[in-house]
Amino acid sequence: MYQAPRGTQDILPHDQAYWRFVEEKAEKICQLYGYKRIDTPVFEQTSLFRRSVGEGTDIVEKQMYTFEDQGGDSMTLRPEGTAPVCRAYIEHGMHNLPQPVRLYYIGPIFRYERPQAGRYRQHRQFGVEAIGDADPALDAEVISMAWEFYASLGLKGLTLQLNSIGCKVCRPDYLEKLRQYYSGHAQALCPDCGRRLRQNPLRLLDCKKPSCQEIVKGAPRIAEHLCQQCARHFDALKGYLDGLEIPYELNPYLVRGLDYYTRAVFEIQPREGGAQSALGGGGRYDGLIEQLGGTPAPAIGFATGLERIILNLRQQGIELPPIPGPEVYIAYLGEKAKKEAIKLAAKLRRAGIGATMALGDKSLKSQLKQANSLALPQTLIIGENELKKGVAVLRNMALGEQVEIPLSQVVTRLKKEA
Ligand code: HAM
Repeated sequence: MYQAPRGTQDILPHDQAYWRFVEEKAEKICQLYGYKRIDTPVFEQTSLFRRSVGEGTDIVEKQMYTFEDQGGDSMTLRPEGTAPVCRAYIEHGMHNLPQPVRLYYIGPIFRYERPQAGRYRQHRQFGVEAIGDADPALDAEVISMAWEFYASLGLKGLTLQLNSIGCKVCRPDYLEKLRQYYSGHAQALCPDCGRRLRQNPLRLLDCKKPSCQEIVKGAPRIAEHLCQQCARHFDALKGYLDGLEIPYELNPYLVRGLDYYTRAVFEIQPREGGAQSALGGGGRYDGLIEQLGGTPAPAIGFATGLERIILNLRQQGIELPPIPGPEVYIAYLGEKAKKEAIKLAAKLRRAGIGATMALGDKSLKSQLKQANSLALPQTLIIGENELKKGVAVLRNMALGEQVEIPLSQVVTRLKKEA
């Protein structure tokens, strides 16, 4: 028996209401904030991710689905959405548009991870990118968008963690201080942190191993080593968030898992979740467009995993509006009535009334049973007698009441009830 690949899942019809709900709220918030949809391919040249996400990161080192295509080019299923959007911004000359360009996407993301609750090898992200402006008010806009989005879903008990990780002016000095501090603890570090110390020292700050966390506590904090411009930017952002009454917690150890970030970074987590359970995260990436060969353009973005949102919606028992289905089931008895039923179903659908028809030559009882199990509110029944009289029987399934209506009036009658 074949099964869905490990770490992937089928989204079955009875679960679709969650997906539709979340995606509709995402579209709505984007419309309110003036973000336009962009869809990029699910695969890109491998080097795009190597250059942007960063060589030393877990994503590039361990998690990419990379393959050589028939033409011998190295391709990678996108492990995140920011780099493809930046590639598209540059490729389509979007720096000529009024800045910032506000974009969003919803689509599948692929990471070869150890599957567990809320962690998949294929997941779906809703992300936004605002490219072309350095104003901290744009940071506040993106953070507020994320915050309002979760609120619109009805999710409660979320925390917003915020940090600034500086820029190319102030970060090198800070990293040197960090290296010096950690060199004094090199013996006690876990093997991963040993590697981070050489390749990616900022990531030392978010090691989850208890022994390393003890060492982190004494590490120099980047917020205390920001250059004047970064500090001013961060203060302004905090001021705007205060004004919006969006509560945040300053987390000096929040560094994120992708190398392109500069200045403000943030994550939103359920209060009980723990560090592995971020619902969403993002930050500024002021150097990325230039690094990918574009005209320099500062930018900020955010992305959130739909599976994790749905997990939290379920845990919090949030009720969803059902996806509307057909309103009427058409039952028939005999071949002649069946022909009429087929025509009637088509007529109803053309008038915008959803209809499902019986099939085969089942008894009326078993047709009604099926109508019941499909939970359709009404059934139209056509038999030989009804045909002769030019009527159909309309049965209200909940009340068990039925009335005869002329075939010619079925559409208008059902329209009135809808
Ligand atoms: P990220 O934090 O790597 O950021 O991923 C964003 C969100 O995707 C996470 O907070 C989580 O909800 C979800 N996610 C990540 N990996 C998985 C997984 N294996 N299974 C299920 N859900 C997952 C980014 O990808 C950045 N591109 C965000 C960004 C946009 N920064 C600026 N603009």
